Amino acid sequence: KNNGSALDAVEKGVHVPEADPNNQSVGLGGFPDRDGIVTLDACIMDELGNCGSVAALQNIVHPISVARLVMEKTPHVMLVGEGALKFALEQGFKKENLLTPKSEKDWKEWLKKSEYNPQINSENKSFRPDKLPGNKLNHDTIGMLAMDAKGNLSGACTTSGMGFKMHGRVGDSPIIGAGLFVDNEVGAATSTGVGEEVIRNVGSFLVVELMRQGYSPEEACKAAVMRIIKKKPEIAKDIQVGFLAINKQGKYGAYAIQKGFSFAVCDKTDQKLLIKGKSYY
Ligand code: GLY
Repeated sequence: KNNGSALDAVEKGVHVPEADPNNQSVGLGGFPDRDGIVTLDACIMDELGNCGSVAALQNIVHPISVARLVMEKTPHVMLVGEGALKFALEQGFKKENLLTPKSEKDWKEWLKKSEYNPQINSENKSFRPDKLPGNKLNHDTIGMLAMDAKGNLSGACTTSGMGFKMHGRVGDSPIIGAGLFVDNEVGAATSTGVGEEVIRNVGSFLVVELMRQGYSPEEACKAAVMRIIKKKPEIAKDIQVGFLAINKQGKYGAYAIQKGFSFAVCDKTDQKLLIKGKSYY
């Protein structure tokens, strides 16, 4: 609306959930891993195909901004763990405790059984958010795609990953091509849900390549979801994976394994939250 860049929009946009202590799937207040450590994954990609990523980053509220600086200030695409933290501190980011009392309490509750059975998206019909201590209806990740007034596309994806994951586990969100992909000639896509299944199918890249072949954004998201289901039907029925996409004409769409997948759309005149009626189950 104000002639800013799509890249700035997605970075600033995902800052909101990253800084929200009540959102337990992203940034500050995100669920810790099974050792009680909050580790964050994020990536960002612009219209020129530049990209930056951080994985297993600790103690920094805005991993997306560290990812952007990896893109802009280093010859690399991805920094992980201690190296990512060292880089962030060198760039002036402040170390903060990301484990809120609420997430610490939920982790301690989880420790009583220590069952590694992550239920990460509320749309999953077997998922009872009311049964998971402290959780709310939510996705496990924030993926944001934007087109600016010049028609340029960018995307950002950021998460604290699967709650109570193994220490060191990295999901799809910081993996370019899996959690996010932007091709300014064609469109952009991002994902949420069980990252392992998205990585196995290079999901967001697949969605963009299907749009290149003429699929609409929703058709492309659906085809990527069907690929996941076809490969592992026994796993797919109990998990959620959802894709969002936008094409170069500004058309958008989404598709998810489980019904009820919600996504927000904002343009010059309108902001709306859409609940995806069409899903596989
Ligand atoms: N989609 C986020 C994760 O699997 O970590």
